[in-house]
Formats: sequence, C-alpha cells, structure tokens
Amino acid sequence: MTKIRIAIQKSGRLNEDSIEILKNCGISIDNGKDQLKASARNFPMEVFYLRNGDIPQYLKDGVVDIAIIGENVLIEKGEGIGFDVRLGFSKCKVSLAVPKEVKYSSINYFEGKRIATSYPNTVKGYLKEKGISADIHIINGSVEIAPNIGLADGICDIVSSGSTLFKNGLKEVEVMLKSEAVLAVSPKISEERKKILTKLQFRIEAVLTARQ
Ligand code: PRP
Ligand code: MG
Repeated sequence: MTKIRIAIQKSGRLNEDSIEILKNCGISIDNGKDQLKASARNFPMEVFYLRNGDIPQYLKDGVVDIAIIGENVLIEKGEGIGFDVRLGFSKCKVSLAVPKEVKYSSINYFEGKRIATSYPNTVKGYLKEKGISADIHIINGSVEIAPNIGLADGICDIVSSGSTLFKNGLKEVEVMLKSEAVLAVSPKISEERKKILTKLQFRIEAVLTARQ
C-alpha cells in the first residue's frame, strides 16, 4: 500500500505540536524519541523524524513528500518548495538585534557591521533590499552570545518570547519576517500520494477550524 512520507522535527519546538495536530486529525504515531521512522497506525502515512535544517533538502529531493516545518526555514533553505496550509502554531519572528546600549535609529547602523546568524540567506536578502552591506558570520546555534564575546555587532535570529534576547542583553531592532508552522509539499510528490495529501489537508482544515 502506498503511504505518504511526512517529515517532522525530531526534537525541538515543533515536535510536540506536530504530533498533536496529526493526533487531532485522528492519526496516531510514536513520538520519535527512540525511532527515526514510524508508521501511522490508522492512516497511510510514514513519519520521518529529522533535523529542522535538513528537511528542505529532503523535500527538494522528493525523499519525503510533505513536512511540518517553520515557514522561516523554508524561506531560508527551501527555494522552490511551496506550502498551502498554515498550521497556526510555532509562531515566531526572524529579527535583527543589537546590544541594548546601542543607540539604534535605522538599518544604516548595520552598514559595514558584523552580523552573526543561522539565517544567512534571509539576512542577506533583507539587507540587499535595504542597500546595506554587512559582514555575515554563520553560526548554527546560541547566536545571541556572539555580541557578548566580541564576535559580532548584532545578530539575526528567531525571536519567540524574547527571553533569549533579554537574557543576553540584546534588543530587537528590525523584524525581517513573521513565521509559523506550515505544511510544505515536495515538488516531486507523485499523483498517487497527492490523493493521500488531499485527504490529510481536508482533516487538517477541519482541525484548524475547530481550534478557532
Ligand atoms: C531558538 C532561537 C532563539 C530562541 C528564541 O533557540 O535560535 O535563540 O529560540 O526563543 P525565545 O525568544 O522564546 O527566547 P533554541 O533555544 O532553539 O537553541 P539554538 O539556537 O541553540 O538552536
Ligand atoms: Mg537560539
């Protein structure tokens, strides 16, 4: 029997809400703590638990058919991958931040400055649009520490509650984009699996309507 292959985050902020929404759709799966692959018990679906940042490539390659992923990750790494359902959870911003004592008046502050980030494409695109040229340092995590250790003048990262910025003595100065979890679809999905996707989308729409 053909199954649709869905990628969800292995651990982290999207993991629980992703499993929860599938459960609300009447699809029960294991949580991926022990296995990286699981089959749904009552729906033609196989679940792959993956690292967030790897998911766009799996979608591009058609190794998975769909994914629950942050829109911010798709914007950063998912060129050519579409989505049609916003899932209403994992809302966050991708923002620029600077040490709180900086007198910030405009984006011009960043001209010639060093910015640490895990979102190089997003920040480069944003700065280009504003006509600013800056030095981008790619870091994979704990980005907010960079100004404190003298690695950067500012950072670009996800802001959710704002607590990480606050704890590191930073302030948000530009919101580059707003994001939430979406259901992304591989450009290589087969016609047969598209039919399963349609069924899933129908259930998701019903769940989202009920949540309102
Ligand atoms: C994420 C993100 C921010 C923080 C934002 O980091 O990179 O640092 O959460 O959330 P907040 O505004 O609610 O504090 P995460 O904790 O996932 O760790 P990482 O950056 O080391 O991957
Ligand atoms: Mg972080």
